[in-house]
Amino acid sequence: MEQTQTKRIVLGITGGIAAYKAAELARLLVKQGISVQVAMTEAACHFITPATMQALTGRPVLVDQWDAADNGMAHIAASRVAEAIVIAPATADFIAKLAHGLADDLLSTMCLARDCPLLVAPAMNKQMWANAATQRNVRQLIADGVQVLGPDSGVQACGEEGMGRMLEAEQLVKDIMDFLRNGKSAGTVSPIPDISVRAHEKEPSQPQTRKLSGKKILITAGPTYEAIDTVRGITNRSSGKMGYAIAQAALEMGAQVTLISGPTAITKPQGAQAVDVQSAAQMFDAVKQHLAGCDIFISVAAVADYRVAHPSAQKIKKGSGNLTLELEPNPDILAYVANLPNPPFCVGFAAESENLAEYAEQKRRAKKLPLLVGNLVQQAIGSDDNELVLFDDSGRQTLPRADKLTLARLLMQRIAQRKKGALQ
Ligand SMILES: Cc1cc2nc3c(=O)[nH]c(=O)nc-3n(C[C@H](O)[C@H](O)[C@H](O)COP(=O)(O)O)c2cc1C
Repeated sequence: MEQTQTKRIVLGITGGIAAYKAAELARLLVKQGISVQVAMTEAACHFITPATMQALTGRPVLVDQWDAADNGMAHIAASRVAEAIVIAPATADFIAKLAHGLADDLLSTMCLARDCPLLVAPAMNKQMWANAATQRNVRQLIADGVQVLGPDSGVQACGEEGMGRMLEAEQLVKDIMDFLRNGKSAGTVSPIPDISVRAHEKEPSQPQTRKLSGKKILITAGPTYEAIDTVRGITNRSSGKMGYAIAQAALEMGAQVTLISGPTAITKPQGAQAVDVQSAAQMFDAVKQHLAGCDIFISVAAVADYRVAHPSAQKIKKGSGNLTLELEPNPDILAYVANLPNPPFCVGFAAESENLAEYAEQKRRAKKLPLLVGNLVQQAIGSDDNELVLFDDSGRQTLPRADKLTLARLLMQRIAQRKKGALQ
């Protein structure tokens, strides 16, 4: 098909307070030479008028699916000439519709009938965002190959503070332009899901905008192994799956990833610089060696708290009495990094078997971490699925149960958002 110079997008506006930001978004996109076709839900028209959007884009706005525009086929025609549909703001309601394939108005029908990528910029009150239903729906969208841009955290229109603000128009323009440049043309986007395959069974290739391009991320993963003698040792049941998934998600977002891993049986993500270690002391050395220029440090490894004080150079022979091993504490790698004079953005993991919230928050404060991710060992260790609870200065947020790659992608998006200002 013939390529035209002008790129065209459908800008879908749904009924949230952030709809006013869509005017600025449309203006900036037009300024970038993008041809913008606006489509609005009925609720969106309560927040901003189609007349404003028409004036800014120079095109009549699509609202009513029973209109005669495009021979009454606007729901099909609009996406056929578009590089992407961008929903900004995307309400909780609209996200729910997308996740379930509902098509009861022009914009939702257009999304279901599209043959181009879909990007959504959620905007809602923090409780609506944190609600398990919304989180489930967002996860479904990501699994379906939809690009989720944001949200951000901060003061909300309702006066509350937390996660759910729509990204600012300038950031959205940047993400959309990146996507138009690298996404579709680079062939990395599979916008229409293969409905015969469940999302978590597919290859982990869901695209993310490359928000971490040029950033250096150091990740530790897996267990450590503390030798008792030449053949025996103390280790734990960490599989490395969560840390490896985080490395994969960071690579998808364009980061330069160094993965320092204890002994695992799983395959390293392609593109990461892999460093294999055994003991906590070796992991500590490797971290110190690779810290220079690091923007983000994510400590996922289950590092042994103690090591054998005097490991035997020979295999210990069986005796008739008890055997006592003296253990000494290992270095606290995360605390060391977090307390450097100019530390990278440090993310810790806490695996607890009880009192998760209390212990995790204690650990976060003791180590002075901006972000700590808590999980329950019973749910996390070795399994393919997990549930994460994020603790930071604004409180806690749950990423509901999902496969580890889906969770890793959500987590990396949060980390990128939180670090956005400082990393630019
Ligand atoms: C004043 C007001 C502000 C609202 N702001 C939001 C919002 O920011 N995000 C959201 O998801 N829903 C918000 N809602 C609720 C949506 O407008 C409502 O769910 C509506 O049905 C969404 O329709 P749509 O998804 O078809 O656009 C708001 C409602 C009112 C009355």
